[in-house]
Amino acid sequence: MCGIIGYIGLRKASEVLTEGLKRLEYRGYDSVGIAVVNNRQLEIKKDRGMVDEVSSALQFTTVEGNIGVGHTRWATNGVVCRENAHPHFNEKKTIVAVHNGVVENVSELRGMLEEKEYRFSSDTDSEIIPHLLEENHKTQPLLQAFMETAAQLKGSYAIVALSTEDTGERLLLARKNSPLIIGVGRGEMFCASDIPAMLPYTKTFVPLEEGDVAVLTRHGYKIFSPDGSEVERRQITVDWDAELAQKGGYPHFMLKEIFDQRHFINETIASDISSARQLIDEYEKIDVVACGTSYHAGMLLAYLLSEKGKISQAYIASDYQFIAKPGKKTLAIAISQSGETADVLQALRHAGDSRKIAITNTVGSTITRVSDETVYLNSGPEIGVAATKTFTSQLAIVSKLIYGKQRLEPLSGLIGKMLEKENQIKEIATGLAGKEHAFFIARGMNVPIAYEGSLKFKEITYIHSEAYPGGELKHGTLSLITEGVPVIALAPRDKALPKLFGNIKEVKARGGMVVSVTNDGEVEKESDYSVRIPEGLDPALYPFALVVPLQLLAYHVSVLKGINPDKPRNLAKSVTVE
Ligand code: M6R
Repeated sequence: MCGIIGYIGLRKASEVLTEGLKRLEYRGYDSVGIAVVNNRQLEIKKDRGMVDEVSSALQFTTVEGNIGVGHTRWATNGVVCRENAHPHFNEKKTIVAVHNGVVENVSELRGMLEEKEYRFSSDTDSEIIPHLLEENHKTQPLLQAFMETAAQLKGSYAIVALSTEDTGERLLLARKNSPLIIGVGRGEMFCASDIPAMLPYTKTFVPLEEGDVAVLTRHGYKIFSPDGSEVERRQITVDWDAELAQKGGYPHFMLKEIFDQRHFINETIASDISSARQLIDEYEKIDVVACGTSYHAGMLLAYLLSEKGKISQAYIASDYQFIAKPGKKTLAIAISQSGETADVLQALRHAGDSRKIAITNTVGSTITRVSDETVYLNSGPEIGVAATKTFTSQLAIVSKLIYGKQRLEPLSGLIGKMLEKENQIKEIATGLAGKEHAFFIARGMNVPIAYEGSLKFKEITYIHSEAYPGGELKHGTLSLITEGVPVIALAPRDKALPKLFGNIKEVKARGGMVVSVTNDGEVEKESDYSVRIPEGLDPALYPFALVVPLQLLAYHVSVLKGINPDKPRNLAKSVTVE
């Protein structure tokens, strides 16, 4: 959702904040702002728009000062406009705060403050924070006032605040159900919603835990639990290169991340799954919970576990609490690239006493702390909002859990071969860019890949798309297949192919445009366009061969339509609200 960054040290804060905001923009990009203390005065610059455009129009980096906060917004409360952009401040402009999350008791708190004649200048829930802090600070020192402010907020928050009247020069941090990480430097300290924002400066991080409040000075940090006692939190070190979070010569992060798959897949298949596998062996009933792309990896996991004789089902995490009754005999497996998706965390809360496994890319994320075992994707940072390399890594972990490592050794080479089809896929993209609808079909274990192809396609091309097991078309959707309507068929040679071939013919008979990904000559003949997958491929690897062309197809249609695939409208990378 929103991206937060804070800095205190000797560098020019406005530069650190602006650079950090660029690296955080994947979390939200409808408005942006910074606040820096300069000669004990707050200088605040903010507006609607993307980081590059707003920061150069308002000349962010001309602001002097060594302590400040920044924010890039994904609107939840209040429309997208300058007033609603963060940072928010009190009337005297002595206290400023940035916030990620949703304050659920906003009406009650705002009513109380308005009665005391506090005046609000935005429609956001977040603006409550600087006013409430001012009110609480009237009767107690700043840190205690901040702790009380955090305790009064219901809902979710990651907050960074500061006061110009604070002699100690410090940043105040609080987190509940929204990520916030301290970056530890030498003679300087950072904080941000996510690690990539701080990578140019440090590799040492301390993720805050639920309910933590922290104080950063130039020289260090202190963390307090909700009862006010000082606590120690685990430091983590990452070996990610700052360059990894840069485009490295590619026009978009998404394309870079699609190509990165060749390399990261080896890191993923080296990931330690032994404890998770042991736990899986102990259980007969396994619920898989996830959202979006991760849910599609979860579908494959549930399918493969069921084939192994387990009772397993994949649930859309946001609905798990309404439809599932997990108990002590259920093992819950949560899949989440970010490890911070609110719907997934809620599903894990619903799983109660069940043992839990997390499959995630994010070291120290909340999902890892509420799970008994964690398997890491090791995909490196993924910045494009559309998940690509992390999906392939999720598929690899799922496959390793079921088949073991050896069968996955050809993956890097296979992905490389599929990436060589890029020029052909660009051509197919030109045939699709003008369409209004697209349908994706597959059968059996490749159905989750059809869902994923369709999600990727609609997410970044804004073309309506749906996916089905091929047999389902004739039960309704066939009425939409007319001359030239594209149907993307995932048709590798397997036991389901004869049936899928029938579905492809049904589409052709109605004038539909068939785009196939296949290794079958007959399917190729029926297709308007066809992407070939290698002969003699282990069927366990079909999902990998199928998904790469679909990622490239979505990417190139998006670019042809003039859309920025890294930042599709209305979406954000890490969805920390339910
Ligand atoms: O971080 P998560 O894996 O939990 O995120 C889940 C979804 O929000 C995410 O996969 C989303 O669907 C992607 N934008 C898809 O490309």
